[in-house]
Amino acid sequence: MKPVEIKDGIFWVGAIDWDERDFHNFTTRRGLTYNSYLIVDENVTLVDTVKHKSVRESLDRIKKVVDPSQIDYIIVNHIEPDHSSGLPDMMRIAKEATIVCTQRAKDGLCKYCDCDGWDIRVVKGGDELKIGKRTLTFIDMTMLHWPDSMATYLKEDKLLLSNDAFGQHVASEERFDEDIGIEEALYWAKLYYANILMPLAGLIKKKLAEVQKLNLEIDMIAPSHGVIWKNPAKIIEAYSKWAEFESENKVVIVFDSMWHSTEKLAMAIADGAGSEGAEVRVFHLRKDSWADIVTEILDAKSIAIGSPTIHNSIFPPVAGFLTYLKGLKPQKKRALAFGSYGWNGVAVKEIQKVLEELKFETLEPLMVKFKPSEEELQKAFELGAELAK
Ligand code: FEO
Repeated sequence: MKPVEIKDGIFWVGAIDWDERDFHNFTTRRGLTYNSYLIVDENVTLVDTVKHKSVRESLDRIKKVVDPSQIDYIIVNHIEPDHSSGLPDMMRIAKEATIVCTQRAKDGLCKYCDCDGWDIRVVKGGDELKIGKRTLTFIDMTMLHWPDSMATYLKEDKLLLSNDAFGQHVASEERFDEDIGIEEALYWAKLYYANILMPLAGLIKKKLAEVQKLNLEIDMIAPSHGVIWKNPAKIIEAYSKWAEFESENKVVIVFDSMWHSTEKLAMAIADGAGSEGAEVRVFHLRKDSWADIVTEILDAKSIAIGSPTIHNSIFPPVAGFLTYLKGLKPQKKRALAFGSYGWNGVAVKEIQKVLEELKFETLEPLMVKFKPSEEELQKAFELGAELAK
């Protein structure tokens, strides 16, 4: 349980949650970390706390640097419980600490926790806090990704403590992008972005432009999850690309099936897309994780979604996935709804409705009765090719 000194006098004192496999329905197949940072200065300052179950681990790390009862400030960049549920335990030890957060964070904290007796200082974007030789500047991050969110910048250290932004859900012993590998870090960041930040693309573009105007010198970004970016330009560039929905030559096919008919269509669509040279990804909704699927959708140019009709309705796993997808608001795709039916092709119509709500450019939906004929499989192939063009 060693702390890691990330800059002179600044320590990672978070926790590694190797076992967690679910983050509000986001499958975290490699676990995750809750990052917390301790700044040793005239005023000892802790930036962000950890999830309740990991407080002991974080405290063990803090104790190797300072006596936690001597913490003067606890900066709460964001109140979602993966960060704030450990705060009450921390406040029982750091009794004299002043909590620093936005007004919305204060309001939320006092709903989540009993904040009676807590000294809470409210700050807003642009406010500064001198803690000795260092000055903390707070950056407004409203709705990135909660109303209370902010980030903390240390100008003397050129360090941005960005909270959820630029994070990744991956548990690792490595603390830096270079140690886990930049490509690997970017992969986990993409998974995180697709499942948490994708609906906020417009705000992200705006915020990136705003922060650029501030001309902050940043040589390290330390988020509240995953590894720390010693190469901040890499992740900023990736965010710019994801926020624009820049696409690869890739077609993603997502389906579920009762008696293999919708599956046969999915495979024919995949063959067709492949015949045009596109990269093809095929996902079965009861075998693959939704988190992985939406990550591939993020930068796909086209998608196809297939479902059989059951009980005069859409197949439940497909309905659940469509709800998830709708919330994440992917943009700029060509799309196809397809599936088989026995009496009434309700499922395909339901999928088509969602694709239109997402403002995708849709192809004529493909519905087949019972089992696809050779002609219908040929039609599916042609539609796959069309998606890839
Ligand atoms: Fe890491 Fe929005 O919580």
